[in-house]
Amino acid sequence: MKFRIALALVWAFAVSTAGLVSAGTIWLDELDIHSAVQGWGKPHRNKSVDGHPLSIGGQQFKHGFGTHAESTLHIELDGGATRFSASVGVDDEVNKSPNSSVEFIVRGDGKALWKSGVMRAGDAAKDCEVDLTGVKSLVLEVSDADDGIDHDHADWADAKFETVLATTFATTGEPALVPVAPYLLTPPAPVTPRINGANVFGVRPGSPFMFMIPATGERPMTFSAQNLPQGLKLDPQTGRITGALSARGEFTVTLHAKNSLGAAEKKFRIVCGDQIALTPPMGWNSWNCFAGAVSAEHVKSAADAMVKSGLINHGWTYINVDDFWQNHRDSRDPTLHGPFRDAQGVIVPNSRFPDMKGLADYIHNLGLKAGLYSSPGPWTCGGCTASWKHEQQDAQTYAKWGFDYLKYDWCSYGSVADKEMTNPTNAKVWGETPPKNAQAILPYRVMGTFLRGQNRDMVFSLCQYGMASVWQWGGSVSGNCWRTTGDIRDTWKSMSDIGFNQDQAAPYAKPGNWNDPDMLVVGQVGWGELHPSRLTPDEQYTHISLWCLLSAPLLIGCDMTQLDDFTLNLLCNDEVLALDQDELGKEATCILKDGDVRVYAKELADGGRAFGFFNLGVTPANWNFKALPQFGLAGKQLVRDVWRQKDVATVDAADGNLPLTIPAHGVVLYKLTAAK
Ligand code: GLA
Repeated sequence: MKFRIALALVWAFAVSTAGLVSAGTIWLDELDIHSAVQGWGKPHRNKSVDGHPLSIGGQQFKHGFGTHAESTLHIELDGGATRFSASVGVDDEVNKSPNSSVEFIVRGDGKALWKSGVMRAGDAAKDCEVDLTGVKSLVLEVSDADDGIDHDHADWADAKFETVLATTFATTGEPALVPVAPYLLTPPAPVTPRINGANVFGVRPGSPFMFMIPATGERPMTFSAQNLPQGLKLDPQTGRITGALSARGEFTVTLHAKNSLGAAEKKFRIVCGDQIALTPPMGWNSWNCFAGAVSAEHVKSAADAMVKSGLINHGWTYINVDDFWQNHRDSRDPTLHGPFRDAQGVIVPNSRFPDMKGLADYIHNLGLKAGLYSSPGPWTCGGCTASWKHEQQDAQTYAKWGFDYLKYDWCSYGSVADKEMTNPTNAKVWGETPPKNAQAILPYRVMGTFLRGQNRDMVFSLCQYGMASVWQWGGSVSGNCWRTTGDIRDTWKSMSDIGFNQDQAAPYAKPGNWNDPDMLVVGQVGWGELHPSRLTPDEQYTHISLWCLLSAPLLIGCDMTQLDDFTLNLLCNDEVLALDQDELGKEATCILKDGDVRVYAKELADGGRAFGFFNLGVTPANWNFKALPQFGLAGKQLVRDVWRQKDVATVDAADGNLPLTIPAHGVVLYKLTAAK
């Protein structure tokens, strides 16, 4: 008792004299801000993200934290602070870039306590004052204001805490999860032949046909096909089907694969018509690993690795060059210097890409397909030559080189969009009345038409971050897929914010038309500075499971020459990939939210249904799934664990329970089919 009284006296003294001795100020820059997770660059103490003195709207600041959207810093206050104040804004180093827009958010114990509203380059600093009485856990967040993270340099200037007794606070970038070592779920493929990949393939009449039968099993293996339509031939040694179909129609073929240990067969539908990409494209893209440093050698090595790693045997097909194969408008890098176009206006690649046709041939000779990148504006996002005023010529050039895929990125088109609407050639596109969102649609319609005019099937991938609800009109401009969001990063915040917010676009996905939540961030990624993905193993299982449920294009974003066992294991699970490649083409939506648990369901062509049970919480969740009839299931259901490729239970939809343990930030992925 005496002890308690003494303690109370000390506390009373501390509090009564707080203003004089115990209350203090802790500057944000005195804390370990380096644990912040941010979308680009590194956190800086008292400097901007680019390392300049902090400056907002012309005003300079000595103290602060320079970061970049999307940014989160968790601070464990434990009730030790009474007030937070700061002056926030976009750092002047972005030079009034029209692309930079951010929102600063202060969250206490999960609730938003203050929001800056959208702030842009050049805006005067906004004062942020937040009462923190009783707050245990604080998050300082900078969002990209929903328009991508380009030039989003954000400063928490003069940021400080008023405290009682506390002398410092611990920080983390994201709430700490108990570390889990990488663990492999995908069972090894059998040594006997197994034909993997999609069950359907679309081609346009007259276009060169190229399809490689993806099959696992010991080599040598020989291939054959029954009922192959006239015009196509199969190489029995490689499993490559080539040729061309002149007539429209649907052909059901039986594919066979044989090795010394056994044989396999599979029904396969070839649909010759207007639509290609009847299942979401699968492949690799250079951006998330090499960004502006990409070279033809990187691309060839990625193609080689796609074959050597065996990923080609699981349906991975495209090898896509992103930005920086062209010359640059003003880079200091001499390898990007050179003419933008030749005397006839044909685009000239930079010195790192000396032979574009040779590169496409190299990729094709491996049984893969080749992809390229451009923008409808004068410059690409990275500042290289783009297709403005050369759309038709570029479409012809890509076809002549032999490319099979074009990612077309809005970027600098904003600077010419108004002008293009009144350009008489383009005005004809609409007839009398331009449709709603005509300005957003126009450049894609123009390029879509020119791509369709080539005697080559080129997947058309729209990249404009979801503007003007692209999912509603992307298909009408011959788009095969369209980005629905800004750029992904390898953080839980970025991946989960994107992945778990796709429902509004979902009804528009169908064979030939896919919503694209951006490329995969597993393996060694880093936009020029490689590091292992910052997603935990369970977050990576979530990422792949969710993207497959969403029928998303699957583009590996890592350095293919450094695939570790865990990454490879994530990318070669044929049952998981089959959900993505399902020929019905229905995108999963969220059918249930319960606390931290999200349940996603996807209808499948064979009448089965895939369920992703995700846990957004930071501790494992024990959870019981019982509402089966509510989700269209009746009778006895066979439950298959898709990652483990194992049947785990039979439940009666009427009264069955599925008790689950879902790892922190992780997933349980099941397929339910009516039991025989
Ligand atoms: C944008 C796109 C990225 C990448 C870069 C290239 O940011 O969204 O995927 O293509 O441009 O500069």
